Amino acid sequence: MAVRLSDSWLDELRSKVSIVDVVSEYVSLNQKGTNFWGLCPFHGEKTASFKVDQDTQLFYCFGCHKGGNVIHFVMEIERMEFMQAVRLLADRAHMSLPEEGVYVNSVSREKRQRMYEANLAAAKFYHSHIWSAAGERQLEYLHSRGLDDRDIRKFGLGAAPSEWDALLKTLEAAGFERDILVQAGLAVSKNNKCFDMFRERVIFPIIDAQGNVLGFGGRALGDANPKYLNTPDTPVFNKRKGLYAMNFIKRERPLKRVVLVEGYMDVVSLRKYGVTGVVATLGTALTNEQANLLKRTADEVWLAYDGDAAGQKAILRGLDLLDAAGAKSRVIVFPDGQDPDDFIRQSGLDGFDGLTKLDPMVYRMDSACAGLDLTSEENRAECAKVCCNILKKVRSPVELEMYVERLSIKTGFSREALMREIGTAAVEPIKPVKRTAVAKKERFTNCEMAQRTLLALLAAKLIDRDVVAREDFDDEVYKAVAAKLLSGKSPADAIDELDGENRQLAAGAVSAQILPEQTRALGVAEDCLNTIRRFRAEREIEELTGRLRDAGVEERRDILRRIEQLNKC
Ligand code: UTP
Ligand code: MN
Repeated sequence: MAVRLSDSWLDELRSKVSIVDVVSEYVSLNQKGTNFWGLCPFHGEKTASFKVDQDTQLFYCFGCHKGGNVIHFVMEIERMEFMQAVRLLADRAHMSLPEEGVYVNSVSREKRQRMYEANLAAAKFYHSHIWSAAGERQLEYLHSRGLDDRDIRKFGLGAAPSEWDALLKTLEAAGFERDILVQAGLAVSKNNKCFDMFRERVIFPIIDAQGNVLGFGGRALGDANPKYLNTPDTPVFNKRKGLYAMNFIKRERPLKRVVLVEGYMDVVSLRKYGVTGVVATLGTALTNEQANLLKRTADEVWLAYDGDAAGQKAILRGLDLLDAAGAKSRVIVFPDGQDPDDFIRQSGLDGFDGLTKLDPMVYRMDSACAGLDLTSEENRAECAKVCCNILKKVRSPVELEMYVERLSIKTGFSREALMREIGTAAVEPIKPVKRTAVAKKERFTNCEMAQRTLLALLAAKLIDRDVVAREDFDDEVYKAVAAKLLSGKSPADAIDELDGENRQLAAGAVSAQILPEQTRALGVAEDCLNTIRRFRAEREIEELTGRLRDAGVEERRDILRRIEQLNKC
């Protein structure tokens, strides 16, 4: 869906969200003067080189040189496209996207907000109920599954009472409208009667990265059916889009990998033993939307499904979806058909860390031949063929070679024969690797440094706008940013349209400088302008000198005169 955002709308958005508040949700910041410092969430580091500037509303990392305004921050950290980041921030600021209200969601923002409030109140109700005498059975159940009170608090687990309308009564008394409770899936209305959705269950609140309670999973005590009851899809809860435990992910970035499991209990259990980055689907098989969300969350996705046949089938499907989303994946296979919860309770964190994280292609090949007895020639041929068919998808010749080697050992067929079976000719050539080193540049020429300082002075409003002009800048990126600053735009606005490396370059320029006192600013600016002038003069002299050789007498005299002039610059 295309929504056009005007500059003024974006200005309003940026003025309503503070970059310091947004960043603080991911990074612990310490204030020093008008700046805030913390550990960069984009690269691992032990000393704080990540700066957030309250005045300019920009962030910048002196280590990895990432920088930009609040929208860019969200794009980077959530690995979102521009529009997705804007949407997230707009939600935060309680702003509707232009025209959006009309066709995106038929339920108004206010109503959805109210449902979040109702869900939060419900989560608190369930959680407090588990500590009461009436919640004893649920508490005992969780204890029997190896959780202690701290775990129960950490995950906000709760107990649904056995009465048919306990939550309904409490929330209505607190002022929530019945219609909201029904729409949020907390209560069910049937034949003019209204009762609670969850009764006598252990409650797992499902909370998103922004801290909103979206819905609940409720586990039966004992063998009641269904084992898990989930909140139905509501205007704020979509089982295909969300993931369980996203609320913990925020503080765990940057994450090298997420661990995707099937069950809520698996998440709680793995995390209890110290595995980070664990999330689960919401009672349905992995979807394309979730695969994309996972891809944005970490560099790799490790599938840690149950060891039973159904789990293994789900892994193959999951791998294909993750492939399609362009996410790197690995597979963890638990021994003896255990699920993650069983395994970690038996083998602990060390056991988990020690498990092999299988390459997806290797997993696919192994699982395709799992039932075959490879002592027979016929089965080895069958295995080789099935695996070659799987390997047709491999794009990289280097990787292909690796897999073929492995398959050759497994089946006894020569690599050449296997390659022919795969039909290497059909393999697409690899694309040349894209260069990404440019923005990592840390050393600037004097002339570049001068332009960067001028930009910083302008952004910090330490010099008046008539001190410099657009033409004083040689570099196209700096020139564009200067033009915007000179036209009165804020620094965060000025760099908005730049992308990738150019943005880092500009954000670095306005952020990565030690600024002079106000009284010295003009002097510094003049020094910078002189440096630029001198640089231009030198460049011209060089060019003129080059022309001297072939010049006639007349021209030679003119050139020399010009060089003399330039030398006085
Ligand atoms: P499992 O049956 O593997 O549950 O279902 P589990 O998490 O291991 O739970 P315990 O250990 O028996 O308590 C995995 C997930 O599938 C969904 C739930 O999201 C569950 O966490 N599920 C399962 C349902 O939605 N409904 C069901 O009836 C069963
Ligand atoms: Mn289980």
